[in-house]
Amino acid sequence: MEEKRVLIETKNLIKTYGEGEGLMYALNDVSVKVYEHDFLVILGGSGSGKSTLLNMIGGIDKVDKGEIIVEGKDIVKFNDKELTLYRRDTVGFVYQFFNLINDITVFQNVILAPGSRDKEKAMELLKRVGLEGKEGKFPRQLSGGQQQRVAIARALNKNSEILLCDEPTGALDDISGKQVLKLLEEIHNEGKTIVLVTHTKEIAGMANRIITMKNGVVVKEEENKNIVKAEEVVW
Ligand SMILES: Nc1ncnc2c1ncn2[C@@H]1O[C@H](COP(=O)(O)OP(=O)(O)OP(=O)(O)O)[C@@H](O)[C@H]1O
Ligand SMILES: [Mg+2]
Repeated sequence: MEEKRVLIETKNLIKTYGEGEGLMYALNDVSVKVYEHDFLVILGGSGSGKSTLLNMIGGIDKVDKGEIIVEGKDIVKFNDKELTLYRRDTVGFVYQFFNLINDITVFQNVILAPGSRDKEKAMELLKRVGLEGKEGKFPRQLSGGQQQRVAIARALNKNSEILLCDEPTGALDDISGKQVLKLLEEIHNEGKTIVLVTHTKEIAGMANRIITMKNGVVVKEEENKNIVKAEEVVW
C-alpha cells in the first residue's frame, strides 16, 4: 500500500501554564501526525489538552517546546508575518461557539478574510451548506446549527487543505449537530483533511484515526476499522 503523505507532524510538544506549585502541563510531550485525507478525531475529557493541541496546530497558540512540521517547515519558528499567512492559507477553523462577527451579515462573514473575497464563490458555499437565501441575515437571526454552517462556509472559503474543528457540535441540539456532522463528512469525502476535537466518544466513530488524550498526554492512538456514518452517530 502506498504510504500516506504526512501533512502535519508535532514533535514532543510541551505547553505549561502557571509556575511553582501551580505549574501544570496542558501538553506534555505530544507527538502526533495528521495524514493527508485523515478524518482524525482527538478525543478526551475536559482539560485533557485537546483545544491546546488544536490551537498549536492552527498556529494560534505558542508552544513552550517542540516542533510542528508542516510541509517541511517548523511553524514554531515562524515569525508573526509567516504565522499570519499560515493561518490564512493552510488551516481553516470551526469553533464550538461559531465565532461569527455579529454585526455584519452572513454573506459578509463568509467573505471577510483576506483571500476570501470572491463573491460568487461565497454564494456557492452558502448554497453548499444549505443556507441559500440567508446571506443577508445577521448571525443572531439564525439558529445555532445555521450559524455553525456559516462558520463552515467561511472556513471552506479559504481553500485550505486542512479543517480544524473544536467541538463543532458542542453548542448544538442533536438535530443541528447531526446536520453539521453530515456536512463535515461530505467535506471530508470531497477530499478535505479534518481534525476534529471532541469529548463525545460516539462522534469519534466517524474518524479513520482516533487519538485519545488525558492530562496533556496522548494515551492511545488507533485506526478505526468500523467507520460510522454521520447519519448513524447517536450521542
Ligand atoms: N490560558 C490558560 N491559562 C491557564 N491554564 C490554561 C489556559 N488554557 C488552558 N489551560 C489549562 O490547560 C489544560 C488543557 O486545556 P484545554 O483547553 O486544552 O482542554 P480541553 O481538552 O480542550 O478541554 P475542554 O473539553 O473542556 O474544552 C486545562 O487544564 C486548562 O485549565
Ligand atoms: Mg477545549
